[in-house]
Amino acid sequence: MNSFKDRDMISLRDMTIDDLWTIVSRTGEIKTGKHRDCLKDKTIASLFFEPSTRTRLSFESAVVKSGGSVFGFADPGSSSQKKGESFSDSIRTVTGYCDAMVIRHPVEGAARLASEVATVPVINAGDGANQHPTQTFLDLFTIYEEFGRLKNLKIGIMGDLKYGRTVHSLTHAMALFDAEMIFISPPSLKMPSTILSDLSEKGVSFRTLIAPEGAADMNLDILYVTRIQKERFGDPQEYKNVAHGYRIDKSTIAALGEQVRIMHPLPRVDEIAEEVDETPNAIYFTQAHNGVPTRQALLGLVTGGIN
Ligand code: CP
Repeated sequence: MNSFKDRDMISLRDMTIDDLWTIVSRTGEIKTGKHRDCLKDKTIASLFFEPSTRTRLSFESAVVKSGGSVFGFADPGSSSQKKGESFSDSIRTVTGYCDAMVIRHPVEGAARLASEVATVPVINAGDGANQHPTQTFLDLFTIYEEFGRLKNLKIGIMGDLKYGRTVHSLTHAMALFDAEMIFISPPSLKMPSTILSDLSEKGVSFRTLIAPEGAADMNLDILYVTRIQKERFGDPQEYKNVAHGYRIDKSTIAALGEQVRIMHPLPRVDEIAEEVDETPNAIYFTQAHNGVPTRQALLGLVTGGIN
């Protein structure tokens, strides 16, 4: 039975380990050519109230590749929000035009609010600094492709852990798979205490560091790097204090060991040197490309085109 049909995808907190395995296995099937046209006769709304390259375009590519149709906007300034329409009224309207909707919004909780108003499945494509579940789905698929397993990995999660929604979602998922997690960030950009408390209550093993060099003897499987989320800082000086504070290059890989795989949700600014791109350690563009089959699988599942 498909437990995804008609379901909203808002937060990793709502998901079980079985759900995550379903996404990973269906994505693998998509990559081998199964489930062609799983979105035939389906129409997907793509509503981006905040900038995006990978998430929006890979969702749109996923729909087209699966035989569906997609419409929407990349700039809310071209919508009737500009005339003063409320978010709820926009969602209540668009729900009548589509079979599922994908929403990115700068405000935490916007996708949850949309799901309470919409009568079709709502997929959170990132809500403020809160969650980015579909990024985690493609991260998990990429990890599984690379390591052949999801359980018992040792992962350094580095960068802006305060405002980075991708790492908030990823941390929930990796906890389900019994990962050992090392959080690496400047003190002002630590993982939120609510997430750390949650991990402690579940007995999940984690440590905190302020620089990746501290992980040199840890034999990390993965270093997951993130950008400092400039757009989330209320005070520009607070951003300047932490901007350009770390950079992963070939010497970092030599220190961490050749086994380490470097992941990043992208976009990057300057936190990974371009010289890393050509190494076998870099798998961030593979991640970006896995966004298409992962989102094909998810949309097929929630609209019932995949069982
Ligand atoms: N990883 C990610 O969310 O990238 P975009 O902001 O380009 O969608």
